[in-house]
Amino acid sequence: MLDSQMKIGLDAVEETLTTVIDSDVETLFDASRHIISSGGKRVRPRVILLAYLAAGGEMITDAVDAAAAVELVHTATLVHDDINDHSALRRGQASVHKQWGRTFALLTGDYMFAKVYEMMSPYGVECNKIMSSAAVTLVEGETLQAAAAKKGEMDRETYKQVIERKTASLFSAGARMGAVIAGADDELKEALTTYGHYLGVTFQIVDDILDLIGDPEEMGKPAGLDMAQNRGVGMTVNGSNGHTAVLEAPAVAADPIEAMMAKLRSSGAVDIARAEADRMAQRAYDALENVPPSPARDELSRLVDMVLDRKK
Ligand code: IPE
Ligand code: IPE
Ligand code: MG
Ligand code: MG
Repeated sequence: MLDSQMKIGLDAVEETLTTVIDSDVETLFDASRHIISSGGKRVRPRVILLAYLAAGGEMITDAVDAAAAVELVHTATLVHDDINDHSALRRGQASVHKQWGRTFALLTGDYMFAKVYEMMSPYGVECNKIMSSAAVTLVEGETLQAAAAKKGEMDRETYKQVIERKTASLFSAGARMGAVIAGADDELKEALTTYGHYLGVTFQIVDDILDLIGDPEEMGKPAGLDMAQNRGVGMTVNGSNGHTAVLEAPAVAADPIEAMMAKLRSSGAVDIARAEADRMAQRAYDALENVPPSPARDELSRLVDMVLDRKK
């Protein structure tokens, strides 16, 4: 039952993402299609659809446009993020700025953000406020991160602020909207929002670990990029992303980025980050205690396991 409902929901999200991109301006159409059709795990739509079901929603199609809108916000941020992070690869393909150039990548991200207004318009004030607030928070997180990276000052507290704002915001907003669309009471909305928040925090810590130990082939995006540009989790562990260590090394490493990654791996940074991810995941599981038992709640719990174990 749950599987068939989720299949209907996720297929409909896919269909919506494909059809909503309908500009007759060729570049916007092509570049948006390029990133949307290149896949992605679709974790955020899964969160909102499952939250909707866990909150007692019975008509999954009611949450589909909001789920697609959340994924579109995410996709737009990836297009802009790859410009900011100088990344040429996304989802195993050329990033939009690599293929179309910076100007069109900026505009493609803008286009997708603008489409979100259209998709959210039928949902009423409460959901629209949740979505707009998440989008604002996300931009704040990206900006705090860029500012900290520029100064080389990514301490633990800043890192926490950054990942809560740039990543957890959209996860918690998705979970909350699922609850709102299902007509949940305040207590249930809070429980699912808290779940989404900690799932998102866990997701980003794991992402930053994968930046150090992941396989770029499997991830479909480069490794070492966040670390090399002062954004990674390694900065929070020993106050350094490894730059100093490399400069102090007697022999010049063949690949300085690989040398920094190796240094960080052996510094224990990965283990410390992993322990933090486990702690945050536990808070997500705990939040589910305040959600009535159901197959959808079990699946939300399994999603935390999947995020912890993910390789891509
Ligand atoms: C990547 O998100 C950006 C982060 C917040 C870490 P995802 O890992 O969900 O990316 P896709 O959608 O699967 O490509
Ligand atoms: C992606 O963040 C953008 C947002 C979370 C808003 P990252 O820069 O950490 O993710 P990847 O590694 O490029 O996917
Ligand atoms: Mg980034
Ligand atoms: Mg990036």
